[in-house]
Amino acid sequence: MSYQNLLLEQPESGIHLLTVNRPKALNALNAATLEELQRAVAAVAADPAARVLLVTGSGERAFVAGADIAEMCGFSAAQAQAFSERGMRVMSALEALPVPVIALVNGYALGGGCELALACDWIIAAEGAVFGQPEVNLGIPPGFGGTQRLARIVGRARALELVTTARQLPAAEARAIGLVNEVVAASALRERGIEVARTIACKGPQAVRLAKQAVHRGLDQNLAGGCAFETAAFALAFATSDQREGMHAFLEKRVAKFSGG
Ligand code: CAA
Repeated sequence: MSYQNLLLEQPESGIHLLTVNRPKALNALNAATLEELQRAVAAVAADPAARVLLVTGSGERAFVAGADIAEMCGFSAAQAQAFSERGMRVMSALEALPVPVIALVNGYALGGGCELALACDWIIAAEGAVFGQPEVNLGIPPGFGGTQRLARIVGRARALELVTTARQLPAAEARAIGLVNEVVAASALRERGIEVARTIACKGPQAVRLAKQAVHRGLDQNLAGGCAFETAAFALAFATSDQREGMHAFLEKRVAKFSGG
């Protein structure tokens, strides 16, 4: 599958690395890039051997500097609606991937770029990364889920401050408010992402998928509903060969060899 504005690689077995690659526009998301992102996410979803997806931006300056302002500038309301819906579909597809998705934020993650990172399961940031929702500077609110996911992650008051003032956060502050899990040197970002992905890739693949699904499904409903889903996921795991292998390996004091079955 070919892409003009993305790179989709597999640095190691089961580990996919998706790089937004439009350096001349600081990796800004235009409609063509969103369409490619949709295809790339679908390709990872269709790979039964996938274990983790890492998402990053090319170059050292930007993860993604937002939706493409030059493209949006002349939009009618109907075109803006279609563009927002396209972006929302990409973010939802990313979030719904059965495997963990980790954003490796290497620079500016602004507007649609921050929203792309928020749609990932968690964020590892380079020391110089900058986060923000600067849309109000342009006379628009966020359009790819920023008002929703940011509020769910950092809380209503912090999200409201960020989307109404357009204040940009350095990586350390983003970590302090729970937006970012971990901050590493820029030179170590890719390797740290692969290291975390490798840790996940050697666990029971079905268990990882079930655990991700349970967290996401639970957050969309009340505690009792989430716990009921967790029970169903737990029971389902006992119909897998991974459960038998994982438990026998423990009892036999050896390393488990999971097949993903
Ligand atoms: N869209 C289109 N082009 C962009 C862009 C964007 N979001 N961000 C940067 N670029 C382009 C610039 O126009 C510039 O192109 P030229 O070299 O052809 O002039 C190039 O990338 C480099 O950018 P700068 O010269 O501005 O670089 P800088 O280092 O001085 O500043 C920056 C970097 C602070 C990130 C600045 O580029 C900036 O503020 N970008 C816009 C950020 C923004 O507002 N993002 C939100 C967009 S709206 C949105 O995302 C809506 C949504 O929720 C869906």
